[in-house]
Amino acid sequence: MKTLAVGSEAVIYEKDSIIIKRRAKKKYRIKEIDEKLRKSRSKAEFNIMNFLYRNGLNVPKPLKYVDRKKEIRMERIDGTRLAEDFSSYDAKNIGTAVAEMHNLGIIHGDLTTANMIKTDKKLYIIDFGLSFHSLKDEDFASDIFLFKNALKSKHNDLYKEAYSCFLNAYKSKIRKEFKGIDTHLKDIEERRRYNESY
Ligand SMILES: Nc1ncnc2c1ncn2[C@@H]1O[C@H](COP(=O)(O)OP(=O)(O)O)[C@@H](O)[C@H]1O
Ligand SMILES: [Mg+2]
Repeated sequence: MKTLAVGSEAVIYEKDSIIIKRRAKKKYRIKEIDEKLRKSRSKAEFNIMNFLYRNGLNVPKPLKYVDRKKEIRMERIDGTRLAEDFSSYDAKNIGTAVAEMHNLGIIHGDLTTANMIKTDKKLYIIDFGLSFHSLKDEDFASDIFLFKNALKSKHNDLYKEAYSCFLNAYKSKIRKEFKGIDTHLKDIEERRRYNESY
């Protein structure tokens, strides 16, 4: 088993073209509570991946949830992380994928280019560790806001063009009236600016 990544929440292993994502123990939590939290969050992540996969979204195929180990097993996507190789063309594909995910009522919660992988054919969204179900405009807006900020901080040279490609694709796919989402987006940005000026 090869260790691929060690994050604050999970450790990622690779074994025979399979990815194993195991929730890390948190020493500061009471043991019993930690067990329960890791189990419920890992299970929730697996269920969301399953739901999206069955509905045709490009996510790694979930293979198994192992309760005892609080781990998810999934297909390994053999491609390039967008954090390492990103263009405005990718931004358009992300806009489409995020709108399709929102149409299914799933908010990602951590939309950055570190959580996206592209292959020759497809763009995959990964890491549903912070995802939840919602059809609220304000939750859609918070996903968009997070992604916009990720672009600004990680891909500043492309930021303006990429964001506009992302948003145009998103708008053309989202089945809700965009105006309602946009109102919340402006609201979040307003609040952010207000807080930053102090
Ligand atoms: N299915 C997968 N295929 C290929 N690489 C993956 C896969 N899942 C995770 N990874 C790699 O492991 C890293 C961390 O996984 P992720 O699910 O984002 O965990 P974390 O919650 O720690 O961010 C990703 O950025 C990616 O490089
Ligand atoms: Mg991640």
